[in-house]
Amino acid sequence: MTKDTSSAGEDRTLRLEIGPDRIGHVVFDRPDSPVNLLSAAVLHRIDALVAELESRIANGQLVALTLESAKQGSFIAGADVGEIGEVRLAEQGRAASTEGQRIFRRLERLRVPTISCIDGTCLGGGTEISLHCDYRVASDSNSTRIGLPEVRLGIIPGFGGCVKLPKIVGVQRALDLILSGKPVPAARAGRIGLVDRVIPHHAWERGIRDFVSDVLANEVPKAEPRLSFKGKLLERNPVGRKVLFSLARKRVLSETKGRYPAPLKAIDVLEQTYGLVPDEAYPIEADALGELVVGDVSRALVRVFGLSQDAKRALPDSVMAAARDIRRVAVIGAGVMGGAIAELVAANDIGTVLKDIDQGALDAGLRHAADLLRKATRASVFTEEEAGLKLARIDGRLDYEGFEEVDLAIEAVVERMVVKQQVLRDLEGVLDSEAVLATNTSSLSVTTMASGLDRPERVVGLHFFNPVHKMPLVEVIRGERTGDAALATAYRFALGLGKTPVVVADRPGFLVNRLLGPYLNETGYLLDEGVPVEEIDDALLEFGMPMGPCRLLDEIGFDVALHAGREMAAALGSRLSPPDVMDRMIEDGRLGRKNGRGFYLYENGKSTGVDPTLDSLFPSGTGGPGDDEIRSRCLWLMVNEAAWALEEGVVDTADQVDLAMIMGTGFPPFRGGLLRWADFEGLRRILDGLLRFEDTFGPRFAPAPLLKELAERDGTFTNPT
Ligand SMILES: NC(=O)c1ccc[n+]([C@@H]2O[C@H](COP(=O)([O-])OP(=O)(O)OC[C@H]3O[C@@H](n4cnc5c(N)ncnc54)[C@H](O)[C@@H]3O)[C@@H](O)[C@H]2O)c1
Repeated sequence: MTKDTSSAGEDRTLRLEIGPDRIGHVVFDRPDSPVNLLSAAVLHRIDALVAELESRIANGQLVALTLESAKQGSFIAGADVGEIGEVRLAEQGRAASTEGQRIFRRLERLRVPTISCIDGTCLGGGTEISLHCDYRVASDSNSTRIGLPEVRLGIIPGFGGCVKLPKIVGVQRALDLILSGKPVPAARAGRIGLVDRVIPHHAWERGIRDFVSDVLANEVPKAEPRLSFKGKLLERNPVGRKVLFSLARKRVLSETKGRYPAPLKAIDVLEQTYGLVPDEAYPIEADALGELVVGDVSRALVRVFGLSQDAKRALPDSVMAAARDIRRVAVIGAGVMGGAIAELVAANDIGTVLKDIDQGALDAGLRHAADLLRKATRASVFTEEEAGLKLARIDGRLDYEGFEEVDLAIEAVVERMVVKQQVLRDLEGVLDSEAVLATNTSSLSVTTMASGLDRPERVVGLHFFNPVHKMPLVEVIRGERTGDAALATAYRFALGLGKTPVVVADRPGFLVNRLLGPYLNETGYLLDEGVPVEEIDDALLEFGMPMGPCRLLDEIGFDVALHAGREMAAALGSRLSPPDVMDRMIEDGRLGRKNGRGFYLYENGKSTGVDPTLDSLFPSGTGGPGDDEIRSRCLWLMVNEAAWALEEGVVDTADQVDLAMIMGTGFPPFRGGLLRWADFEGLRRILDGLLRFEDTFGPRFAPAPLLKELAERDGTFTNPT
């Protein structure tokens, strides 16, 4: 089709193809990358290209223009987050925003119809450039997702997204998209008027051609926001709009407790810019972006994003080269974890065998998987038909038939060494000699588990967190004899499931549970001092933890927590010894949520509040430490344990600790991670505090040598800039 091509600049990131029909196609094709990004350099090229387009249009060489991507499954993934992290001054942020707005508005003013053709992920700046086109079409492919996820980086859309989106989809839907940061699939984008036509993926090229012809024949009306009657009533009068903005503010405040400034700022910008002429509206957006991008929260969130990207490349290429392809997976043990892991694997279209020794347990595991798939259907992740096909991929069994086809077996049976060793031995007898054996153990030694096998180098830990479908972290545990092939296979497999893998050494509690140990134990000591459950949980909720430690203990179960605590204490020292509160809870018939009785009471799985009869187990409230001390004692112990873990080489870097704690426990991302937070608190202050607590409460507060050394030389765990 190419009659005339040019690339703006020498780079092939962007090219213009013009067909004999005088329809121009701007094709994004960033070299050596699976996705297109809108870096400053790419924006500069777009600017140069628009200048070229202006002159071609003036010369009658163009009648319409499409924006397209040459990447499979990706239109434009957004701005270059690395560049966002480099902004130091609000003025720089404002200037970058103004420049992007200027270029997109220049594109908007081209005097031929412009059509953004979205096949694949279209995020952030990708969506904003599309909003400045006259029309948008999207393919119905599964990978098409259109959104403005900026709030997740602590900023707002700054290339005109806040100004343009309400005009196209209405205020309420613009608020939904911007405040949630959640991208929407093509069908929904079509329903809300974000795109003008949804084209079947199999007829994509032809669909674009037809759409362009329809536009040129004046057969496509300019989109108006598709509002319901109630929507029109609210949005089209100032009082109604005031209500919308005020409800949005209330909702954001209740969800974020005001800790994340970006969503609130987005509401301000949408409210202030509504009805303004563009020359007045765009600068308001740019100012807000400049202010947010240099704020602590944005810097923390951008860092976390960077860490999760780094986690995708943490193992050297030489090790990754040994990874095996996974076509079939077996999950052994169909309990809480096994059923959920099987669902996750099948949801990713990998054939799965789910095996148990008990028919009842197997049925329950399959039901659990089916429930999770149903939930995904309700959340519009899959259609019902797709969910049915995925469920059919799980083959429930009580025997080992067909295991010779399995590339990766994950054992998730009861947490007992002898049982797990037997399961691995059985697997060794039935699997192909190259298959990888993974264990989902949360506390047992991978090395010991593998010790009786003929080929222990095939064994690796693959520690998923509960609930599996929600928690992004997977600890990949390198046993002493784990080989590169097993490690790389497990790592790549976790990445393929959309999880964030962190490689950890085979030490008791691995990383996350080890750091949670002293944090949860301290809760017990506080209770013993008469501090009420609500006060402890509220103090940590106030800090930003997703749930308080008492609530978390209820979720884990006291039997499991006690067992894990004892194991860790035996191996790592008495600082990790669980307080006898746990024993008392168990003696009183309390296991936590699973039997309806923990610190809280539960009816039909739902919490009904703190158990008022706990008084008989703990001294009743006697004042005791305030919120600050509760937080310091629990969190500083976690920091201290991280220092021990780093010294022992459980992970290599403080960055890995931060990523794992955010992805595995929900440690508040706006704090930047456990050790980044500790650095901001000041290590000297934490050291002095630990020494003070050691005097009062004993050796469990003794500072780790690494923490002491860093604090004494004014060092930091991370590299705060
Ligand atoms: N529950 C959690 O929150 C959690 C989180 C992370 C890791 N883990 C780990 O995952 C594993 C499983 O935990 P769970 O909570 O799902 O346990 P569970 O008790 O719910 O399930 C264990 C299942 O294993 C089956 N089983 C026992 N022996 C077996 C054998 N020889 N062959 C096949 N199946 C057998 C049982 O019938 C049961 O269905 C444990 O190692 C646990 O430490 C649990």
